[in-house]
Amino acid sequence: MKKLFIYYSLTGNGDKVAKRLENIGYDIVKLEVKKPLPKKFFFRVFVGGFKAGLNMKDKLLNTNISLDGYEEVVIGSPVWNGKLSCPINKLLSLYNFAQIKNLSFILYSGSGEAPKAIKKINKLYKAQVTVLKEPEKYNDELDKIKL
Ligand SMILES: Cc1cc2nc3c(=O)[nH]c(=O)nc-3n(C[C@H](O)[C@H](O)[C@H](O)COP(=O)(O)O)c2cc1C
Repeated sequence: MKKLFIYYSLTGNGDKVAKRLENIGYDIVKLEVKKPLPKKFFFRVFVGGFKAGLNMKDKLLNTNISLDGYEEVVIGSPVWNGKLSCPINKLLSLYNFAQIKNLSFILYSGSGEAPKAIKKINKLYKAQVTVLKEPEKYNDELDKIKL
């Protein structure tokens, strides 16, 4: 069975999840954005939080992701201002993930919580959602992934 993990990561937490999933047989696609958030922490959180709060979509550089032949797709997003990140908002607007039989989400956040993001996912899809607290720092969080 072909399985795919598509994700965004700004500061490495998503990459940690990707490594775990790659080890168990997932193909991996990391989204790249045209204009990443500012490097300085304050500006990064301010700009990203503002944009995510408005459900804005970031322009992606990967434009030809193929979902053909995948029976399972997992989408990974950092939580920005309680919501999905802007690169993932764009991804969801480009592809019809509702047609994927086995769709799930892995979110990573500072608090390990993401009620607004989960609400949005539940509105759009029938998908399992797992939220991890900073998996780069807390390795055990990866054990919450049950796929
Ligand atoms: C713009 C921005 C907004 C954030 N907002 C939240 C938030 O609302 N709640 C939270 O728990 N963590 C928040 N965080 C922390 C990230 O969700 C967390 O560090 C996540 O693991 C980052 O994933 P990454 O390293 O793959 O980019 C925010 C981080 C950024 C950059």
